[in-house]
This record gives sequence, structure tokens and C-alpha cells, in this order.
Amino acid sequence: MSSALIVFASLTGSTEECADFVAEKLEELGIAVDIMDSTQASASDFQNYDLCIVGSYTYGEGEIPDEMLDFYEDLAQEDLTGKIFGVFGSGDSYYEFYCNAVLLFEEQFKKTGATQGSENVKIELMAEDQDIENLHKFAEELVQNLGK
Ligand SMILES: Cc1cc2nc3c(=O)[nH]c(=O)nc-3n(C[C@H](O)[C@H](O)[C@H](O)COP(=O)(O)O)c2cc1C
Repeated sequence: MSSALIVFASLTGSTEECADFVAEKLEELGIAVDIMDSTQASASDFQNYDLCIVGSYTYGEGEIPDEMLDFYEDLAQEDLTGKIFGVFGSGDSYYEFYCNAVLLFEEQFKKTGATQGSENVKIELMAEDQDIENLHKFAEELVQNLGK
């Protein structure tokens, strides 16, 4: 059975809820899923999974949330060759750097040798129906790329 780890940071619950939407679709597709808050996870935890997924809201001026910075920095040191990654997160387009943490994590994952399995998913504040659909599609694409 293939496995997925979703590591997330969420202040007001939106990104956490999105992690649940991704997880429910992955489980439906037969993937064993673990979800961890970024303060409990190490980047090296991804070594034990086939799908490596990060969900992060954006803070400051387009920045990675403080509580996720160590995880973010450590991620670039991991060799995740052969694994599939994907990134999603909530933001607010009121800010100049909308959902920038999602982009920063995509760039960080690219340093690990992992393959991007789906386009990023950006969610404006709380997920609405279209966002849930996008997150489900995201999960489906990640699974389609397993073993390729
Ligand atoms: C101080 C502060 C700074 C923020 N900066 C950004 C930003 O630069 N870009 C962005 O897209 N959203 C920014 N946001 C908005 C949050 O990312 C947004 O509210 C998001 O929905 C929070 O997700 P969560 O519910 O998972 O915590 C900021 C929010 C706060 C409170």
C-alpha cells in the first residue's frame, strides 16, 4: 500500500481543513495517510512515505509561518529522489504576495529531487466548493503520478 504524509501549518484552521480534504480523497484512492502539524514533524519524516505533501498558510509579507521555518529549512537537506510532492495552502489576496509560502515550498521541494505530482493549490481564505474540488483533483493527480 502506498503512503502519504501531509505536514501543515494553520493559524485559523483553513489550511488544516484543506489537509483533511486532501486526506479524504487520498484515502478513498487507497493511500495510507498521516497528517502532522509542522511543529510535530521533521523533514526527515518524509523518508518513510511515497507522497510528500505540505500545506502552509502565508504570513508576514509573503513569508513561511514562523512555526514552520525549521521544517522549511531542513527540507532542502533531504534527498527525496523517487518520491512525489505537492503543495497547497490558504492565503488572502488582499496581501501583495498571495499564497507565497506555497511557492516557496514548491521551490524548496525541487531541491530535494522529488517530482512535482500536481500543480500547487492556492485557497483564498476558507475553502469553498470549487477549492474542495481542486484539492480532490490535486490528490488524484498525486496518486496518478505514483510509480511513474
Ligand atoms: C499578519 C498576517 C500576515 C499575512 N500575510 C499574508 C501574505 O503575505 N500573503 C497571503 O496570501 N496571506 C497572508 N495572510 C493571510 C493568511 O494567510 C490567511 O488568513 C489564511 O487564510 C490563513 O490560513 P489558516 O486558516 O490556515 O491559518 C496574512 C495574515 C496575517 C494575520
